[in-house]
Amino acid sequence: MKKNILLFLLAGNLFVLNCQPKIIINADNPGAKISKDLYGIFFEDINHAGEGGIYAELIRNRSFEENREPEDMYWEGEYVHSHQGWKHRYVRPEELSSWSLDLKSGAKGSIKQVSDQPLNENNPMCMQIVVENPGEKGVTVKNTGFWGISAIKGDKYLFSLYAKCADGFKGDIMVGLLKNDGSVVASEKISGIGNNWQKFSCTLTASETDPNTMFFLIPLSKGKLWVDMVSLFPEKTFKNRENGMRLDLAQLVEEFKPGFIRFPGGCIVEGATLENRIQWKNTIGDITQRKGHWLLWDYHSTDGLGYHEFLQFCEDIGTPGMYVFPVGMSCQFRRCEYVSVDSLQPYIQEVMDALEYALGETNTKWGAERAKNGHPEPFNLKYVEIGNENYGPIYQDHYNYFYKAIKEKYPDIITITCTDPGMRDDFKREDLAGITEPVEIIDEHFYESTDFFYRAAYRYDDYDRNGPKIYCGEYAVKKWNNTLKGNLDAALAEAAFMTGMERNADIVELSSMAPTFVNDSDRNWNPDLITFNSHQAYGNPSYQVQKLFSTNIPDNVLPTVVENSGYATNPPDPGVGIVGLFNIATKAKYKDVSIRIGGKTFTENECITREGLDKKQQDYTWFVDYYDYLDLPVRKEVYDFANENGGWDDYTLTLKAFAEEISDLEAFAINFYSLGQNKHYTWNVGRWLRWYWLQWYDNGYESYFGQKAGTIDVGKWYDISITVRNDSVICYLDNKLVHNVPEPDRVSPGIYATSGILDNGDIIVKVVNPLDADTKIPVEVQGGTVSYSKAKIEWISGDRYGENTFANPLNISPKTKIITIPGNTFEYTFPASSVTVITLIR
Ligand code: AHR
Repeated sequence: MKKNILLFLLAGNLFVLNCQPKIIINADNPGAKISKDLYGIFFEDINHAGEGGIYAELIRNRSFEENREPEDMYWEGEYVHSHQGWKHRYVRPEELSSWSLDLKSGAKGSIKQVSDQPLNENNPMCMQIVVENPGEKGVTVKNTGFWGISAIKGDKYLFSLYAKCADGFKGDIMVGLLKNDGSVVASEKISGIGNNWQKFSCTLTASETDPNTMFFLIPLSKGKLWVDMVSLFPEKTFKNRENGMRLDLAQLVEEFKPGFIRFPGGCIVEGATLENRIQWKNTIGDITQRKGHWLLWDYHSTDGLGYHEFLQFCEDIGTPGMYVFPVGMSCQFRRCEYVSVDSLQPYIQEVMDALEYALGETNTKWGAERAKNGHPEPFNLKYVEIGNENYGPIYQDHYNYFYKAIKEKYPDIITITCTDPGMRDDFKREDLAGITEPVEIIDEHFYESTDFFYRAAYRYDDYDRNGPKIYCGEYAVKKWNNTLKGNLDAALAEAAFMTGMERNADIVELSSMAPTFVNDSDRNWNPDLITFNSHQAYGNPSYQVQKLFSTNIPDNVLPTVVENSGYATNPPDPGVGIVGLFNIATKAKYKDVSIRIGGKTFTENECITREGLDKKQQDYTWFVDYYDYLDLPVRKEVYDFANENGGWDDYTLTLKAFAEEISDLEAFAINFYSLGQNKHYTWNVGRWLRWYWLQWYDNGYESYFGQKAGTIDVGKWYDISITVRNDSVICYLDNKLVHNVPEPDRVSPGIYATSGILDNGDIIVKVVNPLDADTKIPVEVQGGTVSYSKAKIEWISGDRYGENTFANPLNISPKTKIITIPGNTFEYTFPASSVTVITLIR
């Protein structure tokens, strides 16, 4: 099925069909088996997904290590630097961050982060509390948790800490939860603290419900004490696991019925330096011995949710695990640090040990360790991914060694290979030329516009059937200005794409939208599947759509055609010339801007209005700093001239550009053509240190329309020329042609469908109607041996830009009904902006 022609007209909400869409299903020819693992969950600790998220620990900075220097990096002011030159704004957390001292009614004392009383070498810091005078109410030490600690009336909370004392301290403390008004919701006394580190625990029972309590600790006498590993868990965790998962969040994952869970990421797998990678051995066993590490998503992880907890969670959910491991290379978005193949063996061994931990018998070293940690039976680790978002010759070289070692010992484990995350064109085996070992499944990533996903619904129709299988491992409709929190509009485009995955089940084996979780107080990356705060959680529209697909997987795909689907691509609206210079994360300067229209060249002086821009300009050079942009207003006379001389569809913008520094995101970025408010083209030169990249922007969405490999050097002036002519964009760098590409057309989405048959003969049809009108569509099941008389309809529809919120968490969520149908041909009206799953029942 491919790109049917737009043959109907939309007039307001009235649908005038010149040629009606029709869904035809061929039941005589069941096709490929559809993988039961097709829709999985991508887990990464980003947005406090783990720490302060699904990992149920309620105390933040429990081990007092939060302000530790990121591994093999150093701070300069507000930035951390790696030795490879990666620079990232991360303000050092304060000492004892999340902890505070409350001295009331004559209380006198202090708290301090100290390293001279280490609990163990992995957790050297602890909190020293000195009580000079307890006063009437005591020296009160508080912890705010992760944006509030939720207490539920009658629920129990398991508290523990390590403590020791000196200087006459008598050994008793009070611990509990209090509200903002100071009233106590739960409290218990702990006694017997002595001069050596010792663990103490108690159970707190909440007398009230309050989503925003604080933990408190009050020493009950004068003296000095040290505390570490101060921990509080709800007694109710998922499957009542100790050190377990937050119930509501785990249940949302369980209800999704994921085909697998991928862990631990994402970029954190590789880390910003080799030392900063996930080192799984630091994440197992006694939590007091876990080192924790810095997450490049801007916070510290205690690694309480570690490798064992992941494997256990997969088992508790009843789904296989997918483990992603680093391959002797740190993140390639962040100035990759890597080892040569001569030094690769320890990294390979690290992975082999991880696999032995998951799969080995208890008579192996790491199998025995697993048994010691409470799980003698092997876990169900089915997939491994060799690296995350790695690419290029070094990766491909490393890959061969990892693949060989893994397959020799674990021939049944299914391996996944990375592709360049910048890849947008169809996968070609030549892109992995350095890989000499087999490639079983490749992992493609797309964070893109709705437009991209409506096109990508047909992406896999033409893929090489003799090549590797596909894992679409990270994808989501995303606005790179981070403003899209997830709405139905985005979920519809993703659903259209998913129909394409399912229709091509012979090659698409696995997928996972990403990321999964966002704590509403740390929205580093939007959108995500599930949003939560201290006490509430909901699935975004994309979650609801994913779940609808995941809980309705047929056994075999059926050939399905949407006749007159309405899908079309249209030329963009005409635009006007603009000049915008911006840098996301670099320093650059620009000069000699000129515009040529209809044979006349306007110099910088003649075409740019200077009012209000002086601060950025010196001697006709424009400086653009980090996270900065400069819109150079084009003079009215130039617009007037353009209007009289053929408009802006034949003009050339030239300028010179000089990179003082280069970031991983870009060297220079030049906006040159506007198609309306918040819609323009950009030439991003030196993107990700390796691309020349033409992009179009549309209200926060970014899409590329030209991509060429290439780099930019620091400290050198470059001549840049960009021409828009005859619906093409032509770009030169230093007089060398880089792009000559058509202007990007725009998608008019149509009706999307896929179907498949269950072994019991029922047929599942998935239909996406992204149009703004209810659409009546005949559905015809041709052939087959079964007559259908009933249909279960599950559908999601609503306001196109509707979101789910804490106040209305199910605003966009499925509804269900059973209808009778006249037979194997019937008509159904698919609501505007809807995703519908029809199960045909005999
Ligand atoms: O999902 C967020 C990030 O996007 C992942 O960490 C990374 O793999 C991708 O670039």
